[in-house]
Amino acid sequence: MKDKAKTVFICQTCGFRSPKWLGRCPSCGEWNSLVEEVEEVAPAEFSFPPSEALLYRDIQEIKKPRLKIPVEEFNKVLGGGVVLGSLVLIGGEPGIGKSTLLLQVCRDFADQGERVLYISGEESLEQIKLRGDRLGVKDGELYLLAETNMERILVQAEKLQPRVLVLDSVQTVFSAKLSSSPGTISQVREVASEIFRYSKKNQVSSFLIGHITKEGSLAGPKSLEHMVDVVLLFEGERDHSHRVLRALKNRFGPVSELAIFEMASGGLQAIPNPSAFFLKERPADESGSVVVSTIKGTRPLLAEIQALVSPTLFVGNPRRMTIGLDHFRTAMLLAIIERKLGYSFGGEDIYLNVAGGLTIEEPAADLGVVLAVVSCLKNKPLPRDMVVFGEVGLSGEIRSVGSPLSRIKEALSLGFKTVLLPKGGLTLLEKENLPGVRLLGVQNVKESVQFIF
Ligand SMILES: Nc1ncnc2c1ncn2[C@@H]1O[C@H](COP(=O)(O)OP(=O)(O)OP(=O)(O)O)[C@@H](O)[C@H]1O
Ligand SMILES: [Mg+2]
Ligand SMILES: [Zn+2]
Repeated sequence: MKDKAKTVFICQTCGFRSPKWLGRCPSCGEWNSLVEEVEEVAPAEFSFPPSEALLYRDIQEIKKPRLKIPVEEFNKVLGGGVVLGSLVLIGGEPGIGKSTLLLQVCRDFADQGERVLYISGEESLEQIKLRGDRLGVKDGELYLLAETNMERILVQAEKLQPRVLVLDSVQTVFSAKLSSSPGTISQVREVASEIFRYSKKNQVSSFLIGHITKEGSLAGPKSLEHMVDVVLLFEGERDHSHRVLRALKNRFGPVSELAIFEMASGGLQAIPNPSAFFLKERPADESGSVVVSTIKGTRPLLAEIQALVSPTLFVGNPRRMTIGLDHFRTAMLLAIIERKLGYSFGGEDIYLNVAGGLTIEEPAADLGVVLAVVSCLKNKPLPRDMVVFGEVGLSGEIRSVGSPLSRIKEALSLGFKTVLLPKGGLTLLEKENLPGVRLLGVQNVKESVQFIF
């Protein structure tokens, strides 16, 4: 008797599987997210001879060959180039520049004499060529394919034997093995695993582009993270020209590196000195502006925090707006300023912003937030050559943070001469040779305010 096609209900948000339909996903709590899909018949794996278990010490470590991407910043994010036979997933919001970035990478590989296949399920060949012309694609072995059928893509790929393959995007391509539509979790997974197998078998470095939404769930791609070797995130603010590329997962390297690019007419340009980029429009001697030394990935980055305090029109319910900073952390810092420095904000709106559309997640920026607000309240600017960092605790104490030395060195390299920092870490730094910099150690917010104003 022939089996009926087996179906399974899969949550489109988190990938949870259930044999029957449920109104609400028990795993992620989403309503109406379970969709019926045809379950793939498992391949007859057991017909192959089983692989042998090996003794640990008999396993040879092989150094993975890597292809160097001509954009050094991109190499760093990948941990020193892309490993041959690996699958890299690049997620990003619509319109952020994913196709541009990958077409540039393809252009550079082709310039180096590699054979490259760029497959688009979203755009016509003419559209891609238009972008390519803008990016200055030359006569290399760069092949374009506009196709959404996975099986046909693989036929082309097997025929061409490229060294680098890009699939743009994983949500638009479908496998005919499944009856569900492109973009569903089962399709996205099937497409990714086909490309994964193809890449390993042929030692091709493959890149998968995936769309993600602001909420962060790579509607589908999120469920791919465990399947691929590397997950990169390409993000930025739409109305700012800079983009940040960072790794969320990397089987062949660290996930701490990050690269910053600027969208220009000729494509994305890597920014070799991000601190200078983010400080270039800083106003001179304005109150409410503080430069903080933060760490992004493993790299120090100077950023400007701006505060504006003004009488509120919403009596009893003043505004607290933050852009680029954690809202709850900022609320806590404002409470500390009121309590420890004797200010009262009941009648004031407070706006806080990180210039240039950056986001700062680490508590090392706390002291900068406090000083920006106080500087605005006093209407007094900080010394122009000063950089600050330090975490602020609930009693107003300034706590040490990681990597003080690289924070200081970054400040020095941009011409800053004074660093306000936690007193706790100062003794360790005294051994360092740091000519031309004044280190001011502070113990609490009160002391730091007295120091400056
Ligand atoms: N001529 C141009 N000069 C400068 N920037 C441009 C130009 N044309 C397009 N762009 C920028 O490129 C961005 C689109 O890039 P791209 O198509 O690579 O993004 P994407 O992430 O692939 O988008 P999608 O979600 O549509 O696939 C636009 O938002 C725009 O800012
Ligand atoms: Mg695109
Ligand atoms: Zn779910």
